[in-house]
Amino acid sequence: MAKFFVTTPIYYINDKPHIGHAYSTFAADVVARYHRQKGEEVLFSAGVDENSQKTVQAAEAAGKSLADYTKDMSDIWESTWRRAGVSNDAFIRTTTPEHKAAVYELIKRVRAKDDIYKGTYEGYYCVGCEEFKKEDELLEGKLCPIHKKPVDLIKEDNYFFKLSKYQQPLLDYIKEHPEFIQPESRRNEVVAFIERGLHDFSVSRSTQKWGIPWPDDKDQVVYVWFDALVNYLTAAGFPKASFAEKWPADLHIVGKDIIKFHCIYWPAMLMSAGLPLPRQVFAHGFFTIDGQKISKSLGNAIDPVELAGNFGIDALRYYLLSEFAFGADGEFSRTRFETIYNSDLANDLGNLVQRVAVMITRYLDGTIGELPPHSHDITPYEEAMAELRFDRALGEVWLLIRGLNQYLEEEKPWQLAKNDTTQLAEVLHHAVSDLVQIATLLMPFVPGTAKKIADTFAAGRVHAEVGLLFPKPETIEKTEFTIGA
Ligand code: MSP
Repeated sequence: MAKFFVTTPIYYINDKPHIGHAYSTFAADVVARYHRQKGEEVLFSAGVDENSQKTVQAAEAAGKSLADYTKDMSDIWESTWRRAGVSNDAFIRTTTPEHKAAVYELIKRVRAKDDIYKGTYEGYYCVGCEEFKKEDELLEGKLCPIHKKPVDLIKEDNYFFKLSKYQQPLLDYIKEHPEFIQPESRRNEVVAFIERGLHDFSVSRSTQKWGIPWPDDKDQVVYVWFDALVNYLTAAGFPKASFAEKWPADLHIVGKDIIKFHCIYWPAMLMSAGLPLPRQVFAHGFFTIDGQKISKSLGNAIDPVELAGNFGIDALRYYLLSEFAFGADGEFSRTRFETIYNSDLANDLGNLVQRVAVMITRYLDGTIGELPPHSHDITPYEEAMAELRFDRALGEVWLLIRGLNQYLEEEKPWQLAKNDTTQLAEVLHHAVSDLVQIATLLMPFVPGTAKKIADTFAAGRVHAEVGLLFPKPETIEKTEFTIGA
């Protein structure tokens, strides 16, 4: 059986999930559901990145022990995805013994290649980014250009990874595998970055106490990115032999902020360790609110579950994935979300399902009978899915939805009911057949809605008790929403 392994980034736990994190996670969920629907054996992993310096600061600020803080936050992240209907099979915490074992095995293999050495590092460090910055990248007053906060000047003895050794192999690999980094604009960015010259980077910290202890050197902890990236191997069961059945990952979905780590550090680490590279890293764009990145530090984060509460998670998923080309940046707008809820969802789709159900109940006594085969060519949808063009795939489905609405307007079943009952039954059967096909295509994107459509027309009868797909927002209980299996 074909397998498919898709991942989300593992998120830092100094903050609660917001709409930006939900975007990556929903996208990965769509891919996972799409491949499951095709009968493939899917592994979909998500998780939290706990060994960051930010965790220590956040635990202190919350007045909690690190053990309590990490557990509580990890639970919040895990349960947020659960409540949002995300279908991840694995949830990786980087403080677990399994993950530590994977990190140690990776370090062992990289050391065996002689790719780790001890040296001294002096540089400006941004805890927000968990990354050293070059002086010329900093804003005036030695501020991080992303977090707009002062960086720390650090000088310490660390272990270094020989990234420079992998400059040419990485360029060769990227050239031979154009699908590896997507979209193309990101690939060009990565290639340009590598061509400017790669420097070895430090993979341990001696000034930090929180993290995975460096094997055989208790004065150092593993650099958080050198540890976090390995989570993808942990999810596949590394270093157990069976991990080879799951690895390599087919798709890492990441935001554009972390491509350097996923498209340069990570493949170099895997090359060094003698492990196959993931088939694709897809970097999507960033959501802004009023032109600003969404983040706790900027004070404009929106909790995705709370936001969806009024409209339902499916509506939020549909808005996020249909409105913006996956890869491009987007401006989040509540007004636009509401407009799309009313037009595309409640009006185009919800009313259509409702109308067909009501007409079958009224004119055919609720009996559906045998359906004609699906009639639409879905090649454009399949092609869009293969390229993760979610907006296009949904656009294709909405062509079918609008086409069916138009068909009903033209065929006028309410008139046929008076003079041509044979044609009436044919038209309505055709409509249900289309709706069942539409539900199948929608399943990866809006699983709860797709299930409701299928349930409405299940077992040869209309089931009115399934209810409206998209009630007026004020009639939805604020915190209650349901997601299909
Ligand atoms: N812990 C690292 C990732 C390690 S993966 C081995 C990290 N965590 S993070 O919590 O900062 O999450 C970053 C990711 O969250 C981004 O790459 C992106 O997937 C998502 N997003 C965070 N803010 C976002 C937006 N405003 N818009 C879209 N996605 C955003 O980096």
